[in-house]
Amino acid sequence: MSLLAELKTLYNLTLKPIRGRSHAERLDSFYRNQAAHYDEFRKRLLRGREEMLRELPFPDGGMWIDMGGGTGQNLEFVADRLPRLRKVYVVDLASSLMEIARDRVARRGWGNVEPVLADAITFSPPEGQADIVTFSYSLTMIPDWFAAIDHALELLVPGGHIGVVDFYVSRKHAEAGHRQHTWFTRTFWPIWFNVDNVYPSPDHIPYLERRFETVSFSEHWARMPYLPGFQTPYYRFIGLKRA
Ligand SMILES: C[S@@+](CC[C@H](N)C(=O)[O-])C[C@H]1O[C@@H](n2cnc3c(N)ncnc32)[C@H](O)[C@@H]1O
Repeated sequence: MSLLAELKTLYNLTLKPIRGRSHAERLDSFYRNQAAHYDEFRKRLLRGREEMLRELPFPDGGMWIDMGGGTGQNLEFVADRLPRLRKVYVVDLASSLMEIARDRVARRGWGNVEPVLADAITFSPPEGQADIVTFSYSLTMIPDWFAAIDHALELLVPGGHIGVVDFYVSRKHAEAGHRQHTWFTRTFWPIWFNVDNVYPSPDHIPYLERRFETVSFSEHWARMPYLPGFQTPYYRFIGLKRA
């Protein structure tokens, strides 16, 4: 990534005001000027996506919906499994990122993959229920993420899987078996990310655990580009829709 592209992305992440009256307008205002360099910059920031996807049991002939799939980068992580799937949807509300996803799908010749400009809370595929629904760093950007999780549960077939990877902070008094974050971590990261309309929450994990049977769950730290010595917490969750 060139220095100019890097500075442009940094400016968009930190200083440029995000404008718009609707959620979709605000997403486009945020992403429009950084879409071209999105993948290169985010691979240093959005950790654990490939690991989460590699853990999912994509069934032959199945359907996968990637909610808030952005540029379609996740498709590359599991490109070897795509031909065996009947249908894949990449759903996103930001039109600038969707254009990149459409170019990628056309270039790669993935005839069973359809990028759709739609809201993760309301999108429903005409084919019926899905086998896998994923959210990689998108739940923290969806204001009504409760509704997004509830909707994913409705979209899944019984026995289907949800995969989530995202930033988070622990509750003040974390549940048994979950990491306890310090006051600084619980306070600093939500303020830092809120500038970009990203909302790390203490409630994602408890809500996912309540709605799904936990298949696997792990908590991690990621180094932050340009903030030497700073690490931000993220989690990976794979859940099963109970029959
Ligand atoms: C941090 S990006 C992650 C993109 C992609 N999943 C990845 O891992 O590279 C979050 C994405 O969520 C999308 N998003 C936010 N709210 C959404 C909503 N209500 N419906 C669909 N997509 C949404 C944004 O446009 C953005 O592409």
